[in-house]
Amino acid sequence: MADELYIGLMSGTSLDGIDAVLVRFENEQASVIQSICSPLPQDLIDEIKSLVNPAKNELNRLMTLDIQLAKAFSEVVKQLIDKAKINKENITAIGSHGQTIRHLPTASFPTTLQSADPNTIAEETGITTIADFRRRDMAAGGQGAPLVPAFHEKLFRDTEKNRVILNLGGIANITILPADKNINTTGFDTGPANTLINHWIKQQQNKNFDQDGQWAASGEINQDFLKELLSDDYFKLTPPKSTGTEYFNAEWLTNKLSQFPFLSAEDVQASLTAFTATTVSDAIKIYATETEEVIICGGGVHNHYLLQLLKNELPGIEINSSAHYDLDPDYIEATAFAWLAKQTMEHKAGNLPGVTGAKRSVILGGVYFS
Ligand SMILES: Nc1ncnc2c1ncn2[C@@H]1O[C@H](COP(=O)(O)OP(=O)(O)OP(=O)(O)O)[C@@H](O)[C@H]1O
Ligand SMILES: [Mg+2]
Repeated sequence: MADELYIGLMSGTSLDGIDAVLVRFENEQASVIQSICSPLPQDLIDEIKSLVNPAKNELNRLMTLDIQLAKAFSEVVKQLIDKAKINKENITAIGSHGQTIRHLPTASFPTTLQSADPNTIAEETGITTIADFRRRDMAAGGQGAPLVPAFHEKLFRDTEKNRVILNLGGIANITILPADKNINTTGFDTGPANTLINHWIKQQQNKNFDQDGQWAASGEINQDFLKELLSDDYFKLTPPKSTGTEYFNAEWLTNKLSQFPFLSAEDVQASLTAFTATTVSDAIKIYATETEEVIICGGGVHNHYLLQLLKNELPGIEINSSAHYDLDPDYIEATAFAWLAKQTMEHKAGNLPGVTGAKRSVILGGVYFS
């Protein structure tokens, strides 16, 4: 088949920005030909944070936010197209993840909500837009998350090496890729990656993230506090499982901290970073015992302290950034949504039942034609 262009749009739970990638698919290969990360306007960040938990007049506010986000996403698409100097007629479709407002896979009526109205994106950009990827998997009995493992499988599955792909976003998720092709790919959310780390430095120093993990590295891990963090029931659940910032949030942390008022702020930061490293490495030790290589993507790969802790926890396992394979770790997730859009346009499934727990593989998302 001739080559095709798709755009992937992603804004994750860290709220660090809207990632947009222009991807060329040719002979089963995906190459990113242009990418941008554009910050979300502060008023939208505040509104998203407020709506993640039950809030006053939330329906009207969400409906407004849905359109505001779609306009912001459309603007980023226009910037991407300008930067790439291509004609939009050549782009088959946009895969837009949207902004997760709530993810409730264990509610009596499981559901999830990703906001950024695709009608508006299709209308503003003039490009066919695919969105709402997660709910079809949920309708088929799945967690609706994580969805990137199918793309990780395509990029990284190797018949020689047992690999784990680790995405360190707001939440951390792993994709387990056995070398034995008779064994299905599995994966799940291991718990928080950056969300609590970001929250704590914001509250203490008004910074958005802990640059290279420097602040955490200046503190000491408090083992009792770490043990308390690890005692949460989420870590006792067996996969498939997924989680979000409506659970691991400021309130959760405040609650855990209440028994440790004597800890210095930097010791809390060191312990929160160790919490991410331990929950990830425990998940690998329990569910991916044969792992030979861990390939990391997502913004957390830039946190040197976190990476050092992970290496300490996983001796004998090769640990690489996806950059080692010429794949920019900051754009793999957005690229995955470009690929998921392509799957949908070709009437192919996008979920992996072994990961989400769905009864079957299904074609994901709704299509909003240009
Ligand atoms: N240089 C750095 N040092 C430390 N942490 C960093 C650095 N650069 C990025 N990060 C962390 O990575 C986060 C952004 O990662 P990413 O974009 O993968 O997460 P996300 O948008 O929440 O995605 P997801 O949907 O996977 O949760 C930032 O909020 C920050 O915590
Ligand atoms: Mg992000």
